[in-house]
Amino acid sequence: MDLDFLKQTLKTRMTEARYQHTLSVADEALVLAQSFGFSAEDGNRLYLAALLHDITKSLSSEEHIALADVLAVPLTKDDIASPPVLHAITGAALAKHDFPDLVDDGILAAIRWHTTGKADMTLFEKLLYLADYIEPTRTAPICLARRRAFYHDLATRSDKVETLNIHLLAISEDTRSHIIAQNRPVHPLTDEIIHALKQELKH
Ligand SMILES: [Fe+2]
Ligand SMILES: [Fe+2]
Repeated sequence: MDLDFLKQTLKTRMTEARYQHTLSVADEALVLAQSFGFSAEDGNRLYLAALLHDITKSLSSEEHIALADVLAVPLTKDDIASPPVLHAITGAALAKHDFPDLVDDGILAAIRWHTTGKADMTLFEKLLYLADYIEPTRTAPICLARRRAFYHDLATRSDKVETLNIHLLAISEDTRSHIIAQNRPVHPLTDEIIHALKQELKH
């Protein structure tokens, strides 16, 4: 399957705004892959993960639960209590089901963890998480400010991975505050990534 055909397929499955977000995450992911020295092949894999990362985002909670059942993916009580998390779980499972020749375990893991993050993420997973938050069609001031600050620091600081971890920690903490402000339960993985990044930054 060529990428143009995949993009056309995705376009029919999502709203125009989500499709534009998807393309923008993919472009951002490619820039980040180059910045972090990925091979062309791994850059293309990250681009593909980005194209597929929100493929089930338009489904309702009930539809996610039904799809998870059909695809035999377990959902925890915490997952069900955090509806925005569900599309990362069903998205990875559906990407594997619908595009088995395109994806591999690393791509599926990046999709799976793109919403909450988790402890001990790979650089590949971290870059999708970051691209999803800072891509420029997200015009919330907090996202625009994070984008500016990240690229400023990436250009001026010597340790790229530390720079990435500093900004991922800030994003995770902002996300946590946003969830609490909305009176929603914080998914345990959100606390897990915050704790893990703090540990990583200590070394
Ligand atoms: Fe998402
Ligand atoms: Fe997204």
